[in-house]
Order: sequence, then C-alpha cells, then structure tokens
Amino acid sequence: MTIKDIAKLAQVSVSTVSKILNHKDDDISEETRKKVLKIVKQYQYTPYSKVRETAAWRSCTFAVIIPKNLSYQQELIVSIEQAAVSNGYNIMVYFTKTQADEIKYIQILSGKNMDAILLYPIGEQKKSIELLEQQKIAYLLLKKIKQTQILQVYGDYEKATYLATKHLIQYGHQKIGLLLQENRHGDDCKEGYMQALFEADILFEAGNIFVGQDEVEAGRIGAHQLINRNLSAVICENEKIACATYATCQRHATRIPKDISVVCIHTMGFFNTLYPKLDIVTLNWQEVGKQAVNMILQKIESKKEITKNRVSVSPILIQGESVSNPFEKIYGSSQKMIVVGSMNVDSIINVEKLPTDGETLLSNHIVVLPGGKGLNQATATAKLGGLVYMIGSLGNDTDGKKLYHCLVENGVKTEGVRFSTTLSTGKAYVNVAKGGESTIVVYPGANGELDTYQIRQQKKLFQLAQYCLLSLEIPQKTAMYTIKMCHETNVIVFLKPATIETLDYDVMKYIDYFIPNEKELHKIVQGEDSLEQKAEWLFQQGIKNVIVTLGAKGCYLKNEEYHMYFNAAPFEPQDTTGAADSFIAAFAVAISEGKDILSAIVFATYAAGISVSRLGAQPSMPDRTAIDLYKAEIMEKIAEIKKELY
Ligand code: RIB
Repeated sequence: MTIKDIAKLAQVSVSTVSKILNHKDDDISEETRKKVLKIVKQYQYTPYSKVRETAAWRSCTFAVIIPKNLSYQQELIVSIEQAAVSNGYNIMVYFTKTQADEIKYIQILSGKNMDAILLYPIGEQKKSIELLEQQKIAYLLLKKIKQTQILQVYGDYEKATYLATKHLIQYGHQKIGLLLQENRHGDDCKEGYMQALFEADILFEAGNIFVGQDEVEAGRIGAHQLINRNLSAVICENEKIACATYATCQRHATRIPKDISVVCIHTMGFFNTLYPKLDIVTLNWQEVGKQAVNMILQKIESKKEITKNRVSVSPILIQGESVSNPFEKIYGSSQKMIVVGSMNVDSIINVEKLPTDGETLLSNHIVVLPGGKGLNQATATAKLGGLVYMIGSLGNDTDGKKLYHCLVENGVKTEGVRFSTTLSTGKAYVNVAKGGESTIVVYPGANGELDTYQIRQQKKLFQLAQYCLLSLEIPQKTAMYTIKMCHETNVIVFLKPATIETLDYDVMKYIDYFIPNEKELHKIVQGEDSLEQKAEWLFQQGIKNVIVTLGAKGCYLKNEEYHMYFNAAPFEPQDTTGAADSFIAAFAVAISEGKDILSAIVFATYAAGISVSRLGAQPSMPDRTAIDLYKAEIMEKIAEIKKELY
C-alpha cells in the first residue's frame, strides 16, 4: 500500500493525503480528513523509513504514560486500549515510578511520532506540562489538575466521596469517619465528604478523618482510632485501606455492618472477595478511558474547538452488604455493657430423669457446647443487639480457643478476656431430664483466676460503660470488687448470684437488679420466710430491684413501686439450661434501650421461653429476630399488665 493507493481509494490527490499524514491539514475539510484517515487506519499504512523519521508523521498511535503502582492502572489501560483500537489506533504504554521517569518518557516520545500522549501525572505536573507544550504533541491528562484550559478526563474522587457519605447518611449515619492515605486523593475526598455532611446539617469533626502514611496505617491505626471514637461508619479511600479496616474490625470484635458500616472508593478488582461484600463507589475507570480517547480524537482528527476541556466521569454506587442502619437506629441504644462471669465448655448429658443419691443412669445423648454464665449472657446480649465487652478467664487450650472464637463470632468484644497459663478452661457437666429440668456441676478451672487485678485493669472500660452483668462461678472476692467498681464508675449492676452462699451487706446497696432463682434466694436468705418476704428483706437491705426467676412459673418482682408475679412465656421446654442467662441478657438489653421494668421483664420472659425450647445453653439464646416474631404478643401482654395495675 502506497500513498498513491490511499489517494486513489479516497479519491483525493496524493498531496492531500500527504498533508493529512503530516498534520499539515488545516485547509482540508473535515469530511476529507476523516475519509483519508479511515483508509489509512483500515490498511494500517506505514510510510517508508525516511518519512517515518519525520516528527510530524501520523502513526495512529497514542502513548500512555502511567504510574506503575497505580491500583486501577490495569482497568484504565484496558479501557484506553479498547477505545483506541476501535477507532483504528494503537497504544504504547510507559510505566513510571518517579516524576523523573515521566519527564524522561515525554522527552523520548518527542521523536517517536505519537499522535497524542495520555498522561497520568505523578505529583507536581508543572514541568511535564511545560515539556508537552514545547513538543506540540496533542496531550491529555488522566487526572484532575487546577489548570482548566488543559484537556483532562478523570475519575472524580470528590464526587465519589460525596456519594459514599450521602449513601451512609441516607442509612441514618451521622458519625462517619474518613480513612485516607497520604499524598493520594485526600483533598478531593475531604471536599466531597464535607459537602455531604454540610448538606445534611451534620457537624464536621476534624478528628473523624485519619490520614495514614500508607494503606496499612490508615486501615489499622486509623480504623482502630475511629472505632474508639464510637463512629458508626467509615469511608475508605481505596480497597487496601478497606482490607486493613476489615482486619482491624475482626481483631476488635467489631461487626461489619452491625457495629460499623464500611464504604470504599473502588480502585481495584478485589472488592467482592471481602466478606461481607463491600459497598463501593466505583470511579468508573472504563468510562474514563473511553472518554479520554474520544476527547483526544476530537482534538487530533476534528479541528473543531473543544468546548469542555475538563471532563469528570461520574462515579457509580454499587451496594454490597457492608452498610446497614446504625446500631442506635435499629435498637435505640449504643450503650456499652460489660459482662463479668464464667466461661465453660458444657457437656450436656440427656437423661430420662435427674439422678438421685447413689443412682446410676444411662444416657443416650451427650453433646459438648459452649457455655458458662458469663459467656451465655455476653453472647445473648450481643445477639440481641447489645454492645458487649466480656471480662473473664480462659485456659490456654483448645477449649479456651473455641470459646474465644464463640465470643468473637457472636460479636462480643474480647479485650477483657485473659488466657491462664496454669489452669484449663472451665467445664460444666449438665444433666438434662426429659421435661427440660437440669442440674449442673461446674469445674471452674481458669474462671477461678479471674481476680480483682484483672477487673482493675479494665477500669477505663467501666468508666465508659453503662451496665454490668455479673454472675458468679468466679471468685466471690472478685465479684464483690466488681460491684464496688461499678458503684465507683456509675455503672448499673445486674447480679445473678449462682454458687454464692452469702452476700456482703456493704455491697447490697450498690446492686441495681438482683436476679436469683428460687433456690439461690433461699440459700442467700436463710430461714422459713416466704419468697415474697425474703425478696422484701433484700429490698430493705438496699437492693433496688429483686427479680426471682421461677422457671415455668415465671418470675417475681419486688422494688419500690411493685411487688408482683409475671407468667412465663408459653413455650414447650426442651432444656432449661441457660434460661436464666437468656432472661438476664434480654432484661438488661431492654433496660439499656430505655424500656420500663415491666416491659423489660415481659421481653425477658420471651427470651427465656425461646431458650428453654432449644437444646444447650449458649446456642439456645435467641437473637433479636427470633424475639421480634412475638412482638405483637409481647406488646399485648405488657398492655394487659399495665391495664390491671392502673
Ligand atoms: O447458666 C447455665 C450455665 O451454667 C451453663 O452453661 C454452665 O456452664 C453453667 O455455668
């Protein structure tokens, strides 16, 4: 194919073809130029080497200069190549690591007959732009810069962060953090973030933005700091920050999206490998590449004036599973609850009836499950939406690790859990009779090492928390110390007095809710008095609310306002183990949500009812959805009780 052949095919003169190929075509009509170029591209015309050496010759090739470590580099290059090829052009890619590389390549390209350079600049662009201007090669930047007269097509971080922030605000989030990486797109991200907050009348707090030196610092230290600021959502500038944030959340037993929602500005392809799947705002690099090629083609093929030099490609929101309503919106409370108590591995032994003295029975079903009053209460509270911190002691053995995982999986925060170096994890042997009644023998093991020092170490947590669920099977001294610590730090105490014989008089006035079962009540308050009289006596000693759980018979409440019985919820019993733990957890969650004591007790009786209808202690604890199935019934009962009272 010669220049003559092209002229013949296009039905123009040889000199017209030559002018077009040498960029000297200002006097040639657009229609003719397009016709000639179409044939040149179709037949991939290459002139003789002598001609090729002249700088002005059209090569139908674009140079793309792009940083090597740009995370979306591949997506961008592929989209540029596709758009270029479909318009009859090729691309040559030059990877840069430093600004010096960028300048070197621009200089080299001056002798290479490129039709255009598409540059993604590194850092300060002044020098590169000066060079490009000198060389008179058409060029375009793939990044937003201040000089608006220069052609630029870019993915818009400002709009993307604005969209991400708005997305979270629409879900009801107000406390939103921003995790950025130094020297990237921080300024644009901040703009978009602040704009969305401003439009929603949310006060901007500088401390909610963290700028890390790299992705890991942003996602580890930054995410940790933001979690501690009690934010309900974070936006990550890129996916590496999001990955580190996920790891941080896992380490601190912070559930995504239940405790914290995460949105990420999409920069790489692996967003959908994370669990839960990330909500992303994609910068739409495909479109950036396409529009960049269209714009540069308009510049070099059509001599028409380009009216808009700066094109920002609109980002798109793709919803995953990492955003939900903030905790308070779902459950009305984000108050911290501490659980201090035992953690055991329960061997549950099913028998026809409970064994009596000297009796040997056969069991046809034994199962080993997580348990312990502390662990049961902590996981039950978390399942119901509580923000729970466990303080307890495990053995450094396989059982200990399993129980630790059980806490983490259920969203309990575990900073207060210690591993004993000398004792094995606590164990409980639970006999469950046919009707669901049970007896328990506990080997405390590591639970016995939960001492006052471990409680004192968590003083900061007590200062931040509002509620403490305390149960025994830990040293009595530690329990009494915990009650005093709660008093000192203004924390409301719920006490389940299993395994204690006596209660120190001096702590009674610090107990807000005392929740024994009938046997425990009679053990603590000796004598022939009735249950009501004993509850009254405890109340007189300073305990503010006494709630005696009575199994299938419901419970009894004594406080300043009421002395009354409540029925149990109507469930068929399978296994009563852990029912009281379920009751206490649900009761505490309801109180933390601001429910009155009558409503909280009815809510708790349903939690306990569901728990007895299932096997095991910890696994039988219902979550919020399970209780909400009975919402109408619960409301009806509460209304009935209140109607009778007033
Ligand atoms: O309240 C039930 C629990 O008591 C069981 O899980 C067992 O471990 C004992 O602590």
